[in-house]
Amino acid sequence: MSRPSVFLTRRLPPAVENVLAEQYRVVFAGTKEPGKAELIAAMAQHDALCCTVADRIDAEVICAPARRATMIANYGVGFDHIDLAAAQDAGICVTNTPDVLTEATADLAIMLMLMASRRAGEGERQLRAGDWAGWEPRHMIGVGVQGRTLGLVGFGRIAQATAARATAFGMRIAYNSRRRASPDVEAKLGARFVPELRDLAAEADVLSLHCPGGAQTRHLIDAALLKAMKPTAILVNTARGSVVDEGALAAALEAGTIFAAGLDVFENEPEVPTSLLAREDVVLLPHLGSATDLARTAMGMRMVANLKDYFAGREPRDRVA
Ligand code: DGY
Repeated sequence: MSRPSVFLTRRLPPAVENVLAEQYRVVFAGTKEPGKAELIAAMAQHDALCCTVADRIDAEVICAPARRATMIANYGVGFDHIDLAAAQDAGICVTNTPDVLTEATADLAIMLMLMASRRAGEGERQLRAGDWAGWEPRHMIGVGVQGRTLGLVGFGRIAQATAARATAFGMRIAYNSRRRASPDVEAKLGARFVPELRDLAAEADVLSLHCPGGAQTRHLIDAALLKAMKPTAILVNTARGSVVDEGALAAALEAGTIFAAGLDVFENEPEVPTSLLAREDVVLLPHLGSATDLARTAMGMRMVANLKDYFAGREPRDRVA
């Protein structure tokens, strides 16, 4: 039997590509940013599509004329860029890569929290520009996190890993999510459930977002929610850009409604609104949450395991549709 043909929208870590090449006929996208036409053609020509958060896998791609692909193996945990309903209707198997990027992403959430609260990006820019005039008691005063409350929006794996780290900084943990965690998990992390998001926003010193993207959470953090936050509060987003109304955030920072923000994700990546780029009180990173050698390789290996199960006729472990 000939090997299944697998289309890769992006280049993956070498170790992952090597394993794929041992088992499949691997075809790489012809361009760095495959557009809709190339994705549609790939669905018609290959058995599986391996995509990433940077690809829009909408109904048009999924329902490609004369479609051959029966599997979409996503390289990443979030799948709001894939039209799951269309995939389900078309009988396409969709998988993701949970767990393996949890620690890397939690590290980054903490890094953004500390950078934003201690004005690290602003300080580094000042120093590099040659504008630092020396130590001074009133220079670049930030806010500390010890004894402060970390409010987590969503309480899945990454939120819980972030909470575990934050307790080492002496922070209190509160969270809001659709489902309340088990008493064991709450006890282990000293986490308190807050049923209303607005109440969590009002009490949090740091509000860190860990909910999925998609229509249900689009602009969950809007002008009204930001207004409920403390003027000393920090917003951290390592989830999806669409969760935050970026215009409202820029306005809230301008008005002093909150102190600062740390963002790793944006609504229309790779575009970042100029209203945010222009601000000193926002730390901006280019979607680096999972960007460690270990995590990115493990994501690939998990994707390979899903492909292997699927083509062997087994239920892939990480099937989401
Ligand atoms: C994901 O996996 O969803 C991240 O956003 C990219 O690693």
